[in-house]
Amino acid sequence: MSPSFYLTTPIYYVNDVPHIGHSYTTLACDVLARYKRARGFDVFFLTGTDEHGQKVEKAALAQGETPLQLADRVMMRFQNLWEKLGITHDDFIRTSQERHKQGVQSLFKGLLDKGDIYLGEYEDWYCTPCETFWTETQLMNGCCPDCGRATEKLKEESYFFRMSSYQEPLLAHIEAHPEFIQPTSRRNEILSFIREGLRDLSISRTSFSWGIPVPGNEKHVIYVWFDALSNYITALGYPHDPQGRYQKFWPVDVHVIGKDILRFHAIYWPTFLLAAGIPLPKKVFAHGWWTVEGKKMSKSLRNVVEPNMLIDKYGVDAIRYFLLREVPFGLDGDFSHSGLIHRINSDLANDLGNLVSRSSAMVNKYCGGVLPAPAADRDGDEAFKRAFAEAVPRIDGHLSDLSFNKALQVIWELVNKANKYIDETQPWALAKREEQRERLGSVLYNLMESIRLIALLVAPFMPATGSRMLAIVGQNPQDVTLSGRDGWGGLKPGTQIDKAAPLFPRIEGEANSGN
Ligand code: MSP
Repeated sequence: MSPSFYLTTPIYYVNDVPHIGHSYTTLACDVLARYKRARGFDVFFLTGTDEHGQKVEKAALAQGETPLQLADRVMMRFQNLWEKLGITHDDFIRTSQERHKQGVQSLFKGLLDKGDIYLGEYEDWYCTPCETFWTETQLMNGCCPDCGRATEKLKEESYFFRMSSYQEPLLAHIEAHPEFIQPTSRRNEILSFIREGLRDLSISRTSFSWGIPVPGNEKHVIYVWFDALSNYITALGYPHDPQGRYQKFWPVDVHVIGKDILRFHAIYWPTFLLAAGIPLPKKVFAHGWWTVEGKKMSKSLRNVVEPNMLIDKYGVDAIRYFLLREVPFGLDGDFSHSGLIHRINSDLANDLGNLVSRSSAMVNKYCGGVLPAPAADRDGDEAFKRAFAEAVPRIDGHLSDLSFNKALQVIWELVNKANKYIDETQPWALAKREEQRERLGSVLYNLMESIRLIALLVAPFMPATGSRMLAIVGQNPQDVTLSGRDGWGGLKPGTQIDKAAPLFPRIEGEANSGN
């Protein structure tokens, strides 16, 4: 049986339209999902939408529609964008779905019966946009410490979760599992936050109704974060598990999230799970935030980097490449049009594109497009092949750490080595001398084989490009399996090699314009 791999994106709020930040998280997961599938894992990749809460209720009311109508509309925008971005999720959960509601109520009821949820009264400072209560000391000049907006004092009957009881077990878990919260700097933040003391958490509301009712007390709806976080198990079929998915995929291998929602994933969620006796996630990885042209992403700046527009203008693979190559996952980064154009021209058009078009053109020119057989290794051949053999385990390691940019760097080392191999072996000079025919065959074979391997390695990042490259070297463009095909020598001599059209046309004239 193949090993399983379960990964999730956050579920996205439907009171906003999808932007580059959402695309980033989802894309990172997609690359990992595709890579793991290629490596033989049985992958379950989950994304979805977080549809309940006061903000959605208010927004719907303001537009004269029901919250569900609003959610249906915005959810489609997410699904359409994911299709356009080539996202290969295995399931899309909506918190308004019945399967989710049942799972959340069952989790809630279990904790209520156990005494880990109790009814009390709540009074504190509430930030409506963030749907978060803050204590007096947490406020910044009276405002929400997260978004800086005004808060109001609210008092209401509320169910509480005994989070305080799980402070010590959670600390012990984090200390015993250094890989649980990544990157390490974030782990330290979480540790010091927990050490300051965990209070019991209010987990129901009576102030609005668009949510999942508390079982047995319908006046209350379940607090959005309790509702939302549970998606990671309800999507698997918790608690009934009709398809055996929960059994197969839980605990999750990695929750990929942005740094702003780490506290919910690294404190709230694990304490709920500890209370319910459910194993904890293996890893929570918090990535950094994008600014745009050096500025925080405001509504107007978002239009400049609207994902559909970027894809139409630059192509989906270029966007996928740029987002994961430009910035180490885990750090903040800046999205600039000049940065994007620079990457397209230098890494994609120049390095990768030229390698493929130069080499395939030579097989066509010198061998009529028929792949020659390699003869004995000479000169730098062995080192060239070794670089490929060594790269695969390095990429494996980087992707286990979600170091997408390092994995891409390793692939580009190979691209550069292949380009250098052309310069050093000079096939055009070999082609002029009949006695070098055999050597020419070896060189061209090695180049085509390097393209086959690079195609398989880039495919998770740039699926269309990977497929085009495979087609050029006469391989099934749909078969991107890496397991068992990552060794040297997969191409059969005699294979028909296509003369490649440029993979990435250069973008002229805009590189410094910034728009
Ligand atoms: N609904 C909650 C998550 C619940 S998960 C159980 C939520 N939704 S969200 O739509 O606001 O944001 C989802 C993700 O988008 C977060 O991971 C967040 O970090 C990410 N981003 C939002 N803006 C971003 C940037 N400017 N840059 C990078 N990612 C950003 O939070």
